[in-house]
Amino acid sequence: MAQASQSGSVDLRGMFAPQAVAVVGASRSPGKIGYSILKNIIDSGYRGAVYPINPREEEILGRRAFPSLASCPGPVDLAVVAVPTAAVPAVIDDCGVHGVRHLVVITAGYKEVGKEGLAREKDLLAMVRRYGMKMLGPNCLGLIDTHTPLNASFAAGFPLKGEIAFLSQSGAVFAAILDWSLSVGLGFSKFVSLGNKAELTEVDFIREAAADGYSKVILCYVEDVVDGQAFMNTVAGIGSKTPIVILKAGASQAGARAASSHTGALAGSDVAYDVAFRQAGVLRARTMEELFDLAIAFTTQPLPAGDRVAIVTNSGGPGIIATDAVEARGMKMAELARETVERLRQGLPPTASFYNPVDVIGDADDRRYDFAFSQVLADPGVDSVLCMLTRPAVIDPLLVARAIIVRRREHPAKPVVAAFLGGDTVTAATRELIAAGIPCFNFPERAVTALSGLARFQAFNGRAPRTAKPITIEDVDRERAGAILRRVREDRRTVLLSDESAELMQTYGIPVVPSGLAAGSEQALAFAEQFGYPVALKIVSPQILHKTDFGGVRLNLKTPSEVTDAFFDIIDSARRYQPRAAIHGVEVQKMMRPGIELIVGVSKDVHFGSLLMFGLGGIYVNLLKDVSFRLASRATWEEIEAMVSETKAYALLRGYRGKPPADVDAVIDVLGRVAALVQEFPSIAELDINPLFAYERGEGVCALDVKVTLND
Ligand code: COA
Repeated sequence: MAQASQSGSVDLRGMFAPQAVAVVGASRSPGKIGYSILKNIIDSGYRGAVYPINPREEEILGRRAFPSLASCPGPVDLAVVAVPTAAVPAVIDDCGVHGVRHLVVITAGYKEVGKEGLAREKDLLAMVRRYGMKMLGPNCLGLIDTHTPLNASFAAGFPLKGEIAFLSQSGAVFAAILDWSLSVGLGFSKFVSLGNKAELTEVDFIREAAADGYSKVILCYVEDVVDGQAFMNTVAGIGSKTPIVILKAGASQAGARAASSHTGALAGSDVAYDVAFRQAGVLRARTMEELFDLAIAFTTQPLPAGDRVAIVTNSGGPGIIATDAVEARGMKMAELARETVERLRQGLPPTASFYNPVDVIGDADDRRYDFAFSQVLADPGVDSVLCMLTRPAVIDPLLVARAIIVRRREHPAKPVVAAFLGGDTVTAATRELIAAGIPCFNFPERAVTALSGLARFQAFNGRAPRTAKPITIEDVDRERAGAILRRVREDRRTVLLSDESAELMQTYGIPVVPSGLAAGSEQALAFAEQFGYPVALKIVSPQILHKTDFGGVRLNLKTPSEVTDAFFDIIDSARRYQPRAAIHGVEVQKMMRPGIELIVGVSKDVHFGSLLMFGLGGIYVNLLKDVSFRLASRATWEEIEAMVSETKAYALLRGYRGKPPADVDAVIDVLGRVAALVQEFPSIAELDINPLFAYERGEGVCALDVKVTLND
């Protein structure tokens, strides 16, 4: 866990805009990394002092070289370290002693090479922390700030100045994107190669980019998030102001440990990233193309007022493809106003389509495009416009592009994107649109994805201020809950017995089916009398997890004799099934009248902690997968309401096909209580309430079966 992340705000100004930079390991040999870094710094037009550090040279690339940091004529803010691994500790020591605050360690040979490297990295980190320095890397390509300007990397080339900050865990992706960006003319504010993230992590650089005053959008390529809590604490605040788009690769199995619960099986670690990003207001890109398409949209377009898209096209097929894409990405096709449709009908040929998507048909020239586009753009029911063109021989795409560019100025507050389909014949038009700040893509789906990114961000940004207060619940018996969990630990178990789970639920005010643990048949009868018939009997044994497999569960027992018979049957079959299992007795449960079967669960993610799950319960949970998730640590009543309403189960709860509405408030209450329970008792690794019966409004809910597992 990075100290920087724990300690809150880290000022990295001195890293991106230092007064003086030393390149330790600077070399005169053009093939060496130490040469490239020094050359890049000089070529980038960096205006501060540059000190090449080399034990043998007096001058490198026209700059006076120094044998050590001690011999530099002035203080050094940033040291870029590119010496062999074995030489690094002495260099770091030297930096620490001479007051260097910021380090970029290019050198490889750390945790990426295995156990020995990991130990080296720990030592390096300890040293860096001892001196209170801030370190990017090790094993990185360096960093770039086009506004300073400074290129403290060994990547080939210097990006164009722009408003996109790009952080990459992969050096290769860093280098490839830089190269590509030059060919397409895309500008950047910062480029950071995160390397091994030993000390400074993505969280620190996201914070820095958000505060630099010139980065409009922050893009990240990451394979993991080092510290989930720090990520949530920092990024959730930023993500609603500056768009953050993350491409998270590598579905790690670390979080999706072999899970015995339904929740664990449904909540892989990728789900945790999805949920965390969503709760932090981060947009998740699925491909590199999407990452940069969104960046282009955010740096060139205003945010739309809503998600209603209008399409102007000169061909039917691409119009349909774009329409499908709009729906697939959760946006709506705008319904054009009656007046707009009427004007389109009067101004377009009769074979055109006057509804969205507006088809100006194949022989449309720039004037027809201009007319249709202006009508659609002015319609108050339209939040953003996609202009599409496929080129028949009669049309000049350049003229159409120019018409769009001019018309677009009349409504600068609405996003406009274009998709000009084709090859060489549309290149000039595409370039002209892009140069005028209108993103133009070669395929409709990319254009729609760009618009949907803007709409998603706006939806998050425009939401009513969130009550970020964590859920606290007063009427709970923490002491008794703690005592139950201690007892399980003392018993050297991690799985709670069903009576323990039920009691735990009760301590947090979660209604459970009336039940009792009977050691003998007499006691079972007494419970049955107390609860009222019919009842269910279930075996209780720490070794027997799947009770139904051998007849360990008997339902709907209506008379005393049925209860007595069932009691002995269950004990007998359990003994035959697992002769060595310790049998604690038989649980007697009241048979509840059926309600809507729901599931409420919790599983643990290694990065983000407890994940709360809600959905349709019963035996088809894994098949139907009608579930939603939230991070328990950031659960608020609002979030819980949202997670309930985004499932199909919600339609049932509201009263499907004439059925009376269910007690949604009681369901939400249970979720809040479970969130509070797992927050207050982090030793709970997994929890499943399945089913939770939801009854009619005012009649509450009842947990039928509860499984609780503690951390190993
Ligand atoms: N202080 C200052 N300079 C030193 C030094 C020290 N303590 N120790 C060595 N140097 C000098 C060397 O004399 C040499 O200069 P020279 O060319 O004038 O002789 C220069 O530093 C480089 O040392 P060298 O031994 O030639 O190493 P190298 O350039 O072959 O490799 C690294 C050094 C850091 C590039 C290499 O160890 C490495 O880690 N490469 C991988 C980097 C990487 O891939 N990073 C991740 C990218 S995603």
